[in-house]
Amino acid sequence: MTTAPLPSSLRATLPGDHYTDPEIFRREQERLFETVWMCAVRAADLEHPGAFRTVQVGRESVVVVRDRTGRLRAFLNICRHRGARLCGEESGRLRRALQCPYHAWTYDLDGTLIAAPNLGKMPDIDRVAYGLVSVHLREWLGYAWVCLAEQPPSFEETVIGAAVERLGDAAAVERYHTEDLALGRRHRYDVRANWKLLVENFMECYHCATIHPELTDVLPEFADGYAAQYYVGHGAAFGADIKGFTVDGGEGFAPLPGLAAEQDRRYYAITVKPTVFVNLVPDHVILHRMFPLAADRTLVECDWLYAPEVVAGGQDVSASVELFHRVNVQDFDACERTQPSMASRAYRDGGVLVPSEHHIQHFHRWVLDHLAAADA
Ligand code: FES
Ligand code: FE
Repeated sequence: MTTAPLPSSLRATLPGDHYTDPEIFRREQERLFETVWMCAVRAADLEHPGAFRTVQVGRESVVVVRDRTGRLRAFLNICRHRGARLCGEESGRLRRALQCPYHAWTYDLDGTLIAAPNLGKMPDIDRVAYGLVSVHLREWLGYAWVCLAEQPPSFEETVIGAAVERLGDAAAVERYHTEDLALGRRHRYDVRANWKLLVENFMECYHCATIHPELTDVLPEFADGYAAQYYVGHGAAFGADIKGFTVDGGEGFAPLPGLAAEQDRRYYAITVKPTVFVNLVPDHVILHRMFPLAADRTLVECDWLYAPEVVAGGQDVSASVELFHRVNVQDFDACERTQPSMASRAYRDGGVLVPSEHHIQHFHRWVLDHLAAADA
């Protein structure tokens, strides 16, 4: 089989095996997901001391817990004694401490080893050294971000920098005060596709006219296929007759306080590589967190966040949730349609990036650079 060389105006995507090969996925886990900042948990989900949530980060299970001083902490979800998984549940609330279900080693919520059967006979054991293995944690936009690297990359440059790169200024995203918003709805999607297909799909709007009828009604410039998020720093404007970012273009809620005039009636999207999408509209924020579980499987948690009074007042958020839920389903269906073909000989040398998608090549470069870095 031969493939014709691409004209110079076009570029090739990654070869098909980068979406299917378990060994390449394992390298991504090791050299990418375990070295960069990953968005793990919404901080307000862990309201009370002892509240915890476990997430998959690369090859590791990480438990994020609120300690008794109110601070969020992250640890590898592994007992130091013989390695039993500490928290088997995805979420819950610990009473006072983390107790291993195997031989009952018990850890304070700050990770220190505080008790173990017969530990009195081992007075020399260092309770901090044999405490839980802690994981770096930062909070931003109301989420706990974790990093497994011993020396994490700069949070300001690699995470907040994504917002600066997209919007020109971190203040533009801070004005939404996402950390103060309330959760109106959460949808989880178990997508049978490689995580990079989801990122590539989010980065382009070439598909918008074909698969997103509701979204292109609200944001007519998306129908041109040029992802406004990458070509127009000001974001995508609502159509003239559109009242709100809702499934039928009907009225939304009052704009969030503090937004700049140019942020009204516009949609902005930010990709925080590798696994977060932030969508900003005047009256709510939609935040996607992805958890790549296998070469061909990605779990996505999508939160719809509103002004606290909207949620506390029991206002009906379904018209705005329905818009992006449909977009999500349309996008993830497209990714699942593509995934099986990645193993075909037709895709052995990859596919094509048309001119409006050349920025996706930067994403590919970024992935490849990470995969190569540890070889250097
Ligand atoms: Fe946890 Fe033994 S493995 S106490
Ligand atoms: Fe889409």
